[in-house]
Amino acid sequence: MKIAIAGTGYVGLVTGVCLSDIGHVVTCVDIDEKKVDLMKKGVSPIYEPGLDELMRKNIEAERLFFTTNSREAYKNADVIYIAVGTPEQEDGSANLSFVEAVVHDISHSIERDTIVVTKSTVPVGTNDWIKGLLYKELPENLNVAIVSNPEFLREGSAIYDAFNGDRIVIGTDCEEAASVVEEINKPYGIPIIKTDIRSAEMIKYASNAFLATKISFINEIANICEKVNANIEDVAVGIGTDNRIGTQFLKAGIGYGGSCFPKDTKALVQIAGNVEHNFELLNSVIEVNNKQQAMLVQKAKQHLGTLSGKRISILGLAFKPNTDDIREAASLVIAKELVNEGASVIAYDPIAIENTKKELGNLIEYTTSVDLAIKDCDATFIVTEWEEIQQLPLEKYKELMKQPILFDGRNCYDIKEAKENSISYISIGREEVVCKDITCLQKN
Ligand code: UDX
Repeated sequence: MKIAIAGTGYVGLVTGVCLSDIGHVVTCVDIDEKKVDLMKKGVSPIYEPGLDELMRKNIEAERLFFTTNSREAYKNADVIYIAVGTPEQEDGSANLSFVEAVVHDISHSIERDTIVVTKSTVPVGTNDWIKGLLYKELPENLNVAIVSNPEFLREGSAIYDAFNGDRIVIGTDCEEAASVVEEINKPYGIPIIKTDIRSAEMIKYASNAFLATKISFINEIANICEKVNANIEDVAVGIGTDNRIGTQFLKAGIGYGGSCFPKDTKALVQIAGNVEHNFELLNSVIEVNNKQQAMLVQKAKQHLGTLSGKRISILGLAFKPNTDDIREAASLVIAKELVNEGASVIAYDPIAIENTKKELGNLIEYTTSVDLAIKDCDATFIVTEWEEIQQLPLEKYKELMKQPILFDGRNCYDIKEAKENSISYISIGREEVVCKDITCLQKN
């Protein structure tokens, strides 16, 4: 099948590369000349483990192409995937201007009946709007079928998710188009769910909203556990083993970030509002998350008193491990709050420093290793649970910090281990370990 993909962000590029890997001829279209030249050489503009290799393999097999010439790409395609960004606008609604530009391009480029597949996350009803836009400018003799085919890829494991997803959702009112898209995806061997367009659009938002709800739920339970002396890690196991609940997405911490949960939860509140429904539950999920992201600073103020003049290290900047993406990351909230409190901040992340510099500039310092970050610091914040941060022996904090005081937003260490190492260790939803001989701590 000849496929064109509009947009080469982590959704479009991963989708295109994986579809070429299962045998299709795929042309990825982007407006950015520099980006296209890079991708032609098999260099991915985004950090996604394993993507470069898969790109090179399929470029060499002459199944994967990149171009800025959308007209050429769309003209010959059997199927065109719309995979451009739908970023959040001021009022929380989705910005569809990039989608509109692609739709305009398609209607002026295709020369035969084509299937348009919307991969981008778009508000319920958008695909009907896309159809209307297309037919406004499409030549009389041409027909286009619209399919909603939302993605469920996680950054940092997007390729794994593409090949091992739990389901592929195909939403359309055209049976033939549904069969073509089903055929395209057959080599993945993933169960197919067919439905109408609007239900498919809603499945995407409801999935992300539910996952975000699970995270805010476990974080609220963690906040209560701290007050009733329960241990959130054990509670998460105890509830997650009920297969109606499931063990995943029950990791308490300092909340969710990224380009999806924050955007999609706000968009779904908007979508509900547009039909006069006040989605109170989801509003609370968003509020809980906003508070949770700043949680570590509150804890530090409780234990250290003033943060003014303190030297504080932040370990991890990316919104989660295995990505350089810092969009809506807790690290941004924490860094700004610490500086506001008069602390001087030094941060380390394996790959997200460059992106953070674009956002925070020299508001904070950056360094190239964990050791250099924690050296002579008054306190250390663990914000992203990178493998190398989780593996750092607790002795290192004792050896390198002014005094070993750890505020862990991702529960990387055992409470028992912290006690054995005489580390002051404050985490989420668990007993606080406060060492008596650490002078600067406020004894509650
Ligand atoms: C998410 C959805 O998982 C994916 O299906 C959708 O297509 C895009 O949005 P992503 O945002 O890339 O993927 O990452 P994910 O692994 O879901 O983590 C999102 C955030 O939730 C991260 O900040 C992570 O730290 C946080 N999280 C995740 C928790 O705090 N606790 C958990 O148990 C799981």
